[in-house]
Amino acid sequence: MARKKIALIGGGQIGGIMALLTAQKQLGDVVMLDIPEMEGMVKGKMLDMAEGTAVGGYDANMTGTSNYADIEGADVVIITAGLPRKPGMTRDDLLDINVKIITNVANQVKKYCPNAFCIIVTNPLDSMVYAFRKITGFSKNMVCGMAGVLDSSRFRSFIAMELNVSVEDVAATVLGGHGPTMVPLPRLTTVGGIPLTELMDAETIEAISKRTRAAGTEIVKLLGNGSAFFSPAASAIEMANSYLLDKKRVLPVAALLEGEYGINNYYLGVPAVIGAGGVEKIIEVKLNDDEQALLQVSLDAVKGAIVDVDERI
Ligand code: APR
Repeated sequence: MARKKIALIGGGQIGGIMALLTAQKQLGDVVMLDIPEMEGMVKGKMLDMAEGTAVGGYDANMTGTSNYADIEGADVVIITAGLPRKPGMTRDDLLDINVKIITNVANQVKKYCPNAFCIIVTNPLDSMVYAFRKITGFSKNMVCGMAGVLDSSRFRSFIAMELNVSVEDVAATVLGGHGPTMVPLPRLTTVGGIPLTELMDAETIEAISKRTRAAGTEIVKLLGNGSAFFSPAASAIEMANSYLLDKKRVLPVAALLEGEYGINNYYLGVPAVIGAGGVEKIIEVKLNDDEQALLQVSLDAVKGAIVDVDERI
């Protein structure tokens, strides 16, 4: 069986880590694309990785390009093209510039990879994935956004640190938009099958939820130049992995809602089954009144950005 082909659009911080993880997990060959001014940079990065395959113990063709023809027929396309945040910026501050970039990328992906499973990572996430789908017109199960896997990974990590237990045993989901209004769900979080609420007092849970909502900003402040890249890269690859291996993982992703959770025609973070059919199923959880109200606040925040997108494309 021929190897799968994974196209990474955007060869910056997240793109580089994704390329390495893709090769290490032997998911397939990797083509990383960036703008012509950055062609030397992506070619160099990928050649560097290709030269490490011998000691890394993985077989994969790793190439860099600025020519969209080279991504033709990719099975998975992961998009990080765009600007990251700088200290003091919100994700929404990136909308103006990144919607132009996503418009260009979407038109090219539509031309060269009409059957790919597309994962958008560029911020502001919920509106960029909406824009990508609007432009490509791809079926909704083949277009989703990476946010919930990262947000829940952050939440799970903070819980594991606090309890001094393996993060593997912490199962949690985070709903809503990828921003300060995201909705961690402690009520449904478990640690080795035990409800979190049995193990931690409400005050500590609230502190961890608060830190999760601001986790991206915490990293932006520390880095001083750019935003998080290791954990976003690992999160996007976890989604690609579930698709390529038809694992049917239950992962929180930004999916197009058409009535689920009472929401229509918006991309928002919800738990979904990711398998060979892409976003195969959205799982609807019965929320309590408080959770539903928080989800509504998050939706309202996303709606504002969607108005801006609709005005531009
Ligand atoms: N086509 C292809 N690549 C592009 C384009 C374009 N039109 N415009 C910009 N790029 C490239 C840049 O040249 C850069 O190499 O996208 C890359 C982005 O990389 P970084 O600046 O290192 O940003 P990164 O940390 O990888 O984050 C990318 O993901 O999490 C989000 O907020 C983050 O929107 C940002 C994106």
